[in-house]
Amino acid sequence: MKLEQVLCMLGGTGDHSYATVFNLEDKTVPDAIFIMKQSVEELYHDLLPENYVVVADLGCSSGPNAFMYFAAIMDAIGESCDRLSRRAPEIQLLLNDLPGNDFNTLFGLFASSKEKMKEEKGEKFLPFYPAGVPGSFYGRLFPARSVHFIYSSLCLHWLSQVPQGLETNGNTAVNKGNIYISKTSPPLVSKLYTEQFQRDFYSFLKLRSEEICTGGRMVLMFFGRRTWDPAEEENNYISTLLSKALNEMVLEGILKASEVDSFNLPYYQPCMEEVKMVTRDEGSFDVAHESVFDLNWEVLGNLDDKSLTDNNASGEYIAKIMRSVLEPLFASHFGEAIIDELFSRLTAKLTKHIETEKGKYVIFVVSLRRIYRVNS
Ligand SMILES: C[S@@+](CC[C@H](N)C(=O)[O-])C[C@H]1O[C@@H](n2cnc3c(N)ncnc32)[C@H](O)[C@@H]1O
Repeated sequence: MKLEQVLCMLGGTGDHSYATVFNLEDKTVPDAIFIMKQSVEELYHDLLPENYVVVADLGCSSGPNAFMYFAAIMDAIGESCDRLSRRAPEIQLLLNDLPGNDFNTLFGLFASSKEKMKEEKGEKFLPFYPAGVPGSFYGRLFPARSVHFIYSSLCLHWLSQVPQGLETNGNTAVNKGNIYISKTSPPLVSKLYTEQFQRDFYSFLKLRSEEICTGGRMVLMFFGRRTWDPAEEENNYISTLLSKALNEMVLEGILKASEVDSFNLPYYQPCMEEVKMVTRDEGSFDVAHESVFDLNWEVLGNLDDKSLTDNNASGEYIAKIMRSVLEPLFASHFGEAIIDELFSRLTAKLTKHIETEKGKYVIFVVSLRRIYRVNS
């Protein structure tokens, strides 16, 4: 099955769905919101768009986070217009994700949030027109030079494919017992992942450079790592815990070892140096702003104060988030039947892990400016 068909978050609004469990608030990602608003203001100042602004969210998924970011962008556009005494533009919002994404749930959320925003903002409400753009951001999505502002939150760690060369070779599995880079993986595994990320990110930048207008901005937020070595354990808690759960299921005869050995995540957490190096090599953008910050696992689940001090509740929430993100991918390889068991084992492992160490993600935000070049 093609990766595009299984790499989607769990749709709908059920208990395990992405829309239900993964609700960021602007106060949980203040650096990202700050950089986003700053970039919109700079874009406005540089381009002074007359009648309309085209904004695109790449990897929007089906939950409320997409609207949270878009609301911040609308605020920044409104404030820029006020400051520059300009007429407010109309806004076209292009919502992109893979074709398997639950766009229906997303459009429903946008319709209700739009009504709420209209009431709250009154005369300050800016008219906007959302439209869905199904397709991979590793291919062209929009006409040439048609977009002013692109943002993407928590997506670019997804690769276009599992790196080739990781599969089982004859009887020997290259990444035996692991589903991602781990400290027991041979160095070849890190090398293949790193090269795949660099190819993918380069091609992502090249494609966007064709679509975004000169002076346009792009704000990218994704999971990263602080250390140079991708195999350092602090980068890979969750995949390591998931590998442990799968290996236990092999020992108990629930899964075959070959099933685990042949599964690798199409995922990579780069370090900031890699992101900047690829951006420099590709050459269409310069880095206007950057930030690296930690996001506690619990924050992703919007836990209340009680839950933050309760390891069981915390473990359960984090496992739920992971399930909302990973279920379709895991189910397509291991089958639906093992999903409840796998994520209940992950819950137990996360709860234990949290007793000794708080889990956190490292998040990168980079704001890129499309550079003007003759013939570009
Ligand atoms: C963790 S979700 C993030 C969703 C949302 N932006 C947010 O901040 O909550 C990652 C999203 O990226 C999408 N995605 C992954 N690879 C993609 C690709 N090649 N093209 C478009 N979307 C992709 C997934 O389908 C998923 O909806």
